[in-house]
Amino acid sequence: MIGIEAARATDRPALEGLLLANGLPIAGLEFALGTAVVARQDGRIVGCAAVEVYGSAGLLRSVCVEPRQRGLGLGRRLVEQALDVVRKRGVGEIYLLTETAAEWFPRLGFEPGRREDAPEAIQASPEFTGACPVGATFFRKHLNPAAATAVG
Ligand SMILES: CC(C)(COP(=O)(O)OP(=O)(O)OC[C@H]1O[C@@H](n2cnc3c(N)ncnc32)[C@H](O)[C@@H]1OP(=O)(O)O)[C@@H](O)C(=O)NCCC(=O)NCCS
Repeated sequence: MIGIEAARATDRPALEGLLLANGLPIAGLEFALGTAVVARQDGRIVGCAAVEVYGSAGLLRSVCVEPRQRGLGLGRRLVEQALDVVRKRGVGEIYLLTETAAEWFPRLGFEPGRREDAPEAIQASPEFTGACPVGATFFRKHLNPAAATAVG
């Protein structure tokens, strides 16, 4: 199985290359590198997902799997792991805009909504103000708080 791990600072050029090759924006990626997870196969990045964190709200972005690896559940695993990272940091609500995967995100528990309902900080993010056109579909998802670590 392809492994998923936290992105390293040195992964940025490869991440940008993957996003650009698959038609996704790289504007503001620096705000999400600290939460990004990557799927690595033989040392090469074949998928990624990241969240920009604004207090208790997060903007899921840069969800991408290279075409040859699609349909294997990697996209779902990347999203789940990126959400786990920010859940542990206290994020409770996740928002996203997509032009290309509006049929896919509901499978992962995302519900459509109105982008005006997103918190101000999310609406001021580069993705909302520039990278994603007004026609993009808006989704949100509530994250249950991270389970308390068992004491033992
Ligand atoms: C969206 C994406 C990340 C899914 O990755 P993946 O690894 O194929 O996802 P999974 O394997 O977890 O899910 C595959 C299933 O979802 C479906 N699916 C995948 N992408 C889809 C899309 N864009 N729209 C609708 N359904 C999609 C597949 O047909 C497959 O269905 P099946 O299980 O009935 O066969 C990948 O298609 C991708 O990188 N697309 C280009 C970038 C993009 O649009 N990113 C999202 C916007 S941020």
